[in-house]
Amino acid sequence: MSRVARPQGTITRGTTHPNRLRRVDRWVAHAAAPALRDAPDPVVVDLGYGAAAWTPRDLRDRLRPVRADVEVVGIEIDPVRVDAAAPYADATLSFRRGGFEVPLDGRSPVVVRAFNVLRQYDEHAVRDAWATMAARLAPGGLLVEGTCDELGRHAWWVAVEAGHDAPRSLTLSTRLAGLRAPGDLAERLPKALIHRNVPGEPVHDYLRALDRAWAAAAPHASFGARQRWIAAVRSVRESGVPVVDGPSRWRLGEVTVAWSAVTPAGHPATRSPDR
Ligand SMILES: C[S@@+](CC[C@H](N)C(=O)[O-])C[C@H]1O[C@@H](n2cnc3c(N)ncnc32)[C@H](O)[C@@H]1O
Repeated sequence: MSRVARPQGTITRGTTHPNRLRRVDRWVAHAAAPALRDAPDPVVVDLGYGAAAWTPRDLRDRLRPVRADVEVVGIEIDPVRVDAAAPYADATLSFRRGGFEVPLDGRSPVVVRAFNVLRQYDEHAVRDAWATMAARLAPGGLLVEGTCDELGRHAWWVAVEAGHDAPRSLTLSTRLAGLRAPGDLAERLPKALIHRNVPGEPVHDYLRALDRAWAAAAPHASFGARQRWIAAVRSVRESGVPVVDGPSRWRLGEVTVAWSAVTPAGHPATRSPDR
């Protein structure tokens, strides 16, 4: 008798919201565009989509302009949530039970997006989860793992390349209107960093650098919060922080840095391919 392997992970709270992941959807449509356009099988996974099927549907709709025949598979570890999503399935959107092993009947996803999933795990579980999911990616694919607030106004995520067990980058994407200080967004850091915003940790230094630059850029606010953010990120880059994106992303309220800028103390400094 064949046995179905138990999905890797545990059922956690299913909180979600329509359009909640618009910031990371937009970034995926940009960062994964070359891989998605070239993919022989344009399949993308939304892992841990929660109590309703909104986020996989939104992701599919935002990736369609990049690849018209994109297919999104929502994977959930909770069978009740898989059943609840089933009526919303169609030729380009489907739902199935699974965990970090990303079951896809032998297909390799171009993107795995796992949002607000690892937040509820222990910090020590993160690296294995990254490695397991990234091992499933198609060549050139990306794992995008992160956290956001309830309505998706502020989000952080890491990007892990196929076959690696540590990220290449950390992205912050935030609503600039009303932003007091970037450091206020530390409470939404991904699990790998949330407990590391303390003196002596690189992510703490990074947030302080953003705070100082944002304060110093206050005179730019008369031209709008966007101009202030662009000036702040530019000065952070000029101070030597490895910012890897440019003004076309900064104007969206984003900034992406190399993982080396924030690698937690005690972690290997570089990404390991295929451990
Ligand atoms: C807070 S919800 C997030 C929903 C959606 N991604 C969002 O950001 O709005 C987290 C979901 O992840 C699911 N989950 C937790 N661990 C998982 C795993 N290893 N594989 C698949 N789903 C998982 C939980 O069952 C829960 O429904």
